[in-house]
Order: sequence, then structure tokens, then C-alpha cells
Amino acid sequence: MKIAVLKERRFNETRTAATPESVKKLIGLKHSVAIEAGAGVTAGIRDDDYVAAGATVGSVADVLKGADIIFKVRAPDAAELATYPKGAALLGLLDPYAAKKEAAAYAAAGVVTVAMEFVPRITRAQSMDVLSSQANLAGYRAVIEGSQLYGRAMPMMMTAAGTVAAAKVFVMGAGVAGLQAIATARRLGAVVSATDVRPASKEQVASLGAKFIAVEDDEFKAAETAAGYAKPMSAEYQAKQAELVASHIVKQDIVVTTALIPGRAAPVLVTEAMVKSMRPGSVIIDLAVAQGGNCPLSKPDEVVDVNGVKVAGFTNLPGRIAADASALYARNLLALLPLLTGENAAFAPKWDDEIVKAAVLTKDGAVVHAALKDG
Ligand SMILES: NC(=O)c1ccc[n+]([C@@H]2O[C@H](COP(=O)([O-])OP(=O)(O)OC[C@H]3O[C@@H](n4cnc5c(N)ncnc54)[C@H](O)[C@@H]3O)[C@@H](O)[C@H]2O)c1
Repeated sequence: MKIAVLKERRFNETRTAATPESVKKLIGLKHSVAIEAGAGVTAGIRDDDYVAAGATVGSVADVLKGADIIFKVRAPDAAELATYPKGAALLGLLDPYAAKKEAAAYAAAGVVTVAMEFVPRITRAQSMDVLSSQANLAGYRAVIEGSQLYGRAMPMMMTAAGTVAAAKVFVMGAGVAGLQAIATARRLGAVVSATDVRPASKEQVASLGAKFIAVEDDEFKAAETAAGYAKPMSAEYQAKQAELVASHIVKQDIVVTTALIPGRAAPVLVTEAMVKSMRPGSVIIDLAVAQGGNCPLSKPDEVVDVNGVKVAGFTNLPGRIAADASALYARNLLALLPLLTGENAAFAPKWDDEIVKAAVLTKDGAVVHAALKDG
């Protein structure tokens, strides 16, 4: 197959969908790889590095000519989509829950689209799990950004001039991003606590050396879906949770919020009153800002100052660690490729495979994913 890798054109996107390492492996699998000039620069990769790995580097037209598969990080806009060859397959982070209109355009363009976010979280697909690979780095980076915005030290320090207190970090939502945030904050020497609504997270939080704080009622005991995600919680639970969080947050220095419900707006966990109860110099990092935010005061790609409390809404934290995020993302794509490949390295998707079925949005000129079909 000819695999095309294009430069990312979305605002703030610094990652790239192939690295010299992934190119070498693709060439080893008998594919050819064409990279748009400059595609890796923001992730620290020169065109020459790709060429040394066996790729060709050229213009958009060169790269897309005869391409079977297009590797992207983010979805194309209409102008970019118009350049894609009919029948080619696009693999990327296509934001599928919000992509009804876009899916119709992909279908009309005759492009096969694979939304990497829809790859099921089953054991066989772990190596393809972009949500985990990117959330893990986002959780790490959130704490690094938080420590940067925080005007004080993270670890306790005993010096001849006196003692510096350790920062108190509170992580809300202890999934993939939250657990890495906890581990990172602990490594930096902070005193860490965390909350979640899934009972399974309690032990994971404790195993990382953080204190678990949650309303552990009957609803909490049943809050995990069969797929391992959190259910939306009732208004009654949310009120109890808010009361508990309000009394805890007032003593915290850095709060990292990561709570998400797939396909829905993020739950509000940190109210304006809670933000105002925190002392000046404290920091909130809202990882859910792109899904509406866990804090109503967070704004996309801004650090808002609320009475001295900094509320940061970075929409692309993995993009702030672009080299590593690209390397992991490129490996995720590489792991999925055999499901789209037949004999002699030809383009032959295994349409009946459960992973392919779950992730394909469009094929044969039609929207095929149940979540995006009309009606
Ligand atoms: N089997 C696998 O390969 C695999 C891979 C990745 C993740 N998982 C599992 O999937 C689950 C979800 O992980 P994720 O990080 O993708 O989740 P996510 O990004 O959807 O949500 C982040 C966290 O927010 C929590 N949350 C949601 N609503 C909340 C609320 N009102 N208050 C507090 N917390 C709230 C969720 O429980 C979750 O832990 C975890 O159990 C994880 O271990 C499994």
C-alpha cells in the first residue's frame, strides 16, 4: 500500500502521525510511505530523518497521488478533504461523537474513515488504544503545566532557613489521565488526593500513594458500565459529591480535573464558588475543557485568573509533548494496520473484524457507523 502522511493543519496541533521508527516498520511490511514536507517539524522530526528511514518527502499532491491510506492526527477540513483520492482510507482522531456533518462529507468524498477513538478498549486492541496513549501523556503534562503555573515548590524542603511545605494536589477523575497525573504529582513530591465515581479506581488511587476521597454510597457502587466507563451520576449524587469536594478543595493548591463521560458533555465538578474558595496562587488544570469543562470558568487555550486562582484550559496537552505523543500515536496506527491489509501488502480491510466494525465511520460512499447515521 502507499501510505500518505500529511502535515497537520488544525490550530494548535503539533503532533504528527508517523515517526522515522514507524516509517521503517511500514517499509519493512512492504508498504511505501510518502510524507508531506515539514510534517514532522513541530514534533522534532526533520524531513531528512524520514528519508533516512525510507520514506519519500514531497508536496501534498505528490504524497496523495495513488495513496491507499492517509495517516493523520486530526480530521481534515473541507478543503483538505477535497484533495483526498476517492477510495482512500483516512485514519485519525476524528472526534467521532461530534462528527455527524463531517461523516456525511467523508462519505460523499468516497473516503473510508477510521476514527481511532472508536477502537474498542478490548485486550486485543490495547496496542491501538489512542485514548490511553494520549491521555497518559496528557495526565503527565497537566501536572507539569500545573507546577509551572503554581508559584511555589512541589516537594517539602527542609532547609537551614526553614521548611517549605509540600504542594497539595487533588486529581478529579482517576482514569488513564488521572492516574498518570497522580503518579507524576507524587514523583514531584506533592501530597496527592484523588476522586472518582468508579469503585475500581479506589484501589488504583491508593496503590499510587494518594488518598481516595469520594461519596461511596449505593450509586457509587454501581457507577461503572460494562465497558469500564463511568455512568452519568444523578443530581442527588452530584449534590453530595459537591459538598464533599467543596470542603476538600479549599485546602488544595493544584487541582487537575479529567472527568469525562463518553459522548456527553463533561460533568461539572468544580463550581465558581469552589474556585473562589481557593487561595490566590492555586491552580486548576481542566483537561475536559474541550468537552465543555469540569469547571465552568475554564476557557479553551486560556489561563483565566479568578481572584488570583489560575484556571487553565489547555485543549491539547499531548501536543505540548509532541515528540512522545507522536511516537505513541504512530505506534497505535501501525498496530491497527494489519486489520486493513490483505495479501502482498494490499489494501483489503477485514470489514467483519470487531475492531474494524467499531471504528469505521464511512465506506462505499455511505455513513456506516450506527452512532453517526441519520435517524
Ligand atoms: N481494557 C483496556 O484496555 C482499557 C484501556 C484504557 C482504559 N480502560 C479503562 O476504562 C476506564 C475509563 O478510562 P478513561 O481514562 O478512558 O476514562 P475517561 O477519560 O472516559 O474519564 C476519566 C475518568 O473520569 C471519571 N469520571 C466520570 N464522571 C465522573 C464524576 N462525575 N466524578 C468523578 N469522576 C468521574 C471516570 O470514571 C474516569 O475514571 C478505566 O476503568 C480504565 O482503566 C481500559
